[in-house]
Amino acid sequence: MTIQTALPYSIQWKGDHISILNQQALPHITEFIKLQSVEDVFDSIVTLKVRGAPAIGITAAYGAALGAIQEETEDFSLFKEKILGYIQRLASSRPTAVNLFWALNRIERVLQAACTVTEAQKNIVSEAQDIFREDEEICRKIGEYGLSLFNEGDRVLTHCNAGGIATARYGTALAAFHLAKERNFPIKVFASETRPVFQGARLTAWELQQSGVDVTLIADSMAAHTIKEKKINAIIVGADRIAANGDTANKIGTLSLAILASHFGIPFYVAAPSSTFDLSLSSGEQIPIEERNGDEITTIQGKRIAPEGIQTFNPAFDVTPAKLITGIITENGMIRPDYTSNIPSKIKTR
Ligand code: MRU
Repeated sequence: MTIQTALPYSIQWKGDHISILNQQALPHITEFIKLQSVEDVFDSIVTLKVRGAPAIGITAAYGAALGAIQEETEDFSLFKEKILGYIQRLASSRPTAVNLFWALNRIERVLQAACTVTEAQKNIVSEAQDIFREDEEICRKIGEYGLSLFNEGDRVLTHCNAGGIATARYGTALAAFHLAKERNFPIKVFASETRPVFQGARLTAWELQQSGVDVTLIADSMAAHTIKEKKINAIIVGADRIAANGDTANKIGTLSLAILASHFGIPFYVAAPSSTFDLSLSSGEQIPIEERNGDEITTIQGKRIAPEGIQTFNPAFDVTPAKLITGIITENGMIRPDYTSNIPSKIKTR
């Protein structure tokens, strides 16, 4: 079954190239761009043309597939060396979302299991396509579980963009809203703008508007007042990496919202697929946090807003401790605390 949504597929394998929705051009321009080499894919991830943990993983897997089919050598050990180099390059694009490494590990396993160049090329392409297809199905299930948590008329706050454009389709945190719209189940969504690069204002506002979801944009600094005045019932966000104890890295600003949820006594949900769990890490302390260029803070769409020479600190993610998370919605259902005990029964990472 599919969820009816006006959203296009934002990542498409085209046989000899990848077509992606350029998320940097949204919301003003809806354009698809062609990625024709591993370097194009690397660049599109670094510059956030494609972003969101599952989308990064899918695009990198397709990038490795592109590299594989473009390789002309028939010498299998040379071929393997080249593809491992591409995998390494793609893995160096962004450090926090574990879906990137999870997807590239899947590609590497397929490469290692092959015996010839032709076999490896065929299997790598099909593994990347599986990663895409599986994610679409996973997001649909997360949407069902997510929606089951809400009541008609609820007012729900979300942060960043954990939507269809950040995944194969539908999204994680936003999947419930697309599904609610399809079923005429009224939910009012509040989206925080998500400084510094405005995934909430540019992407979530656009995506939910496209789907006809009732969405209201707020600036990040308005969250506490909005929760109180608009009687927000719940907060739901996506994730970039979840440690074995449930500590969750997500877009910078998520931790502040989790603290607010606790203060106001409302549930704080994380929605994420199995591929976002990193059970090799015992706690969130071990999650690498990407720091990006300070220009993202000192300028807005190329226009400088801060004095020249000012020092900046620009972490792209923060870690919300498990104790502030009411539940983690996965494709296998909801995981509740105690996460260290309950995650293993729901999450079997490949
Ligand atoms: O820097 P971004 O835009 O890639 O960060 C994205 C997020 O933090 C999302 O919430 C997360 O990746 C989940 S996307 C389904």
